[in-house]
Amino acid sequence: MNNPPPAEEPLRPHTYDGIQEYDHRLPNWWLVTLYGSIAFAALYWLFGFQLELLPEPGAALEEKMKANALAAARSSGEISNEILWSMSKDSKVLDAGRAVYQSTCASCHLPDLAGAIGPNLKDATWIHGAQPMDLVKVVTSGVLEKGMPTWGPVLGKTKINEVTAFILSHQPNP
Ligand code: HEC
Repeated sequence: MNNPPPAEEPLRPHTYDGIQEYDHRLPNWWLVTLYGSIAFAALYWLFGFQLELLPEPGAALEEKMKANALAAARSSGEISNEILWSMSKDSKVLDAGRAVYQSTCASCHLPDLAGAIGPNLKDATWIHGAQPMDLVKVVTSGVLEKGMPTWGPVLGKTKINEVTAFILSHQPNP
C-alpha cells in the first residue's frame, strides 16, 4: 500500500479482491441532505396527508382555472353576477370604476356612497335588487320617474360594469 491511511481514518476490516476501504465519515452536506429529506418527508406526510393542513395540489390549479375562465369571459364582454363580483376585487377595474363614479354618480349618491338625492349604495338595502346584475340593469336603464338617469347610452357597457364593480367593492363579498 503506497498511501497509508491517516490515523483518524481507520481501515475497515474486510478485504475484497485485495481491496480495502477507509472508514470515511460522510461529509456534512451529504448528511444534512439525507436527514433533511427524511425529516421533510415525515413532516409532509404528517401535515399533508394526516392533518390535511396543506392545500391540495389540485385546489390551486382549480382556483387559477376559474380565474382564467372569468378573465376570458370578461374580455369577451360577457357579464354575470359572478363576473361582476370577480371584477369587484380587481384593482384596475376599481380604479376605472371609481373615476366614473366620482365624475358621474357622486353628485347624487355622494362621494362616499352614503346617498343624498340617490339612495345609499354601500348599505344592505336595495330598492331594485341586491344582485350585481340588478345594479347593472338599474344603472343602464335608470329610474327616470324617481330621478335616476339612464346611463346606458351615456357610459356604455364597459364603464357601467366598472362602476358597478366599484359599488360592489363596498359590499360584503357573498
Ligand atoms: C341625478 C341624480 C343621480 C345621479 C347622477 C345618479 N343617480 Fe343613481 N339613483 C338616483 C336616484 C334618485 C335613485 C333612486 C331610484 C328609485 O328610488 O327607484 C338612484 C338609484 C340608483 C341605484 C339603485 C339603488 C337601489 O337601492 O336599488 C343604483 C345602483 C344607482 N343609482 C347607481 C348610480 C350610478 C352607478 C350612477 C353613476 C353612473 C348614478 N346612480 C347616478 C339618482 C342619481
